[in-house]
Amino acid sequence: MISKKMEKAINEQINKEIYSAYLYLAMAAQCENLGFKGFGKWFKVQYQEELSHAMKFFDYINDQGGRVELAAIKQPPMTFKSPLAMFEQAYKHEQYVTQSIHGLVDLAVKEGDHATNSMLKWFVDEQVEEEAHASEIVTQMSMIGPSGAGLLYLDGKLGKREAGGD
Ligand code: FEO
Repeated sequence: MISKKMEKAINEQINKEIYSAYLYLAMAAQCENLGFKGFGKWFKVQYQEELSHAMKFFDYINDQGGRVELAAIKQPPMTFKSPLAMFEQAYKHEQYVTQSIHGLVDLAVKEGDHATNSMLKWFVDEQVEEEAHASEIVTQMSMIGPSGAGLLYLDGKLGKREAGGD
């Protein structure tokens, strides 16, 4: 059993996770459009991960006898200045999601909701990974600069990412 307040907060988190998926799908589209198939693949895997995050929250609400409420998903931006701008935005977005997850933990603690707090531990750890991955790519891309050869090398490397991996 979860409180109505917690149910609403988790439903809002479902919306944020699906928006994250949408944002990364938009980035995948532009990467592929620019010819960076590897970056596109990385963002497509990220898109799938975000949907799986949304589904974890979806299942949790149902397991707790709550009601899932799906709201409209905001349209993501469809143009980005460069691959670096996309990864910088992805990193910033993950920091925003981390804050949101931490807000849920704060609410769970305030309500003495041990079950939700326990479920959220996975997400707290996951956000550390999510931020680290995006930040690492931003650092590498910044080091490479606008060099075509360097970007193509990184494109090949990131294109090896598989769903279910890191
Ligand atoms: Fe679901 Fe990237 O946080």
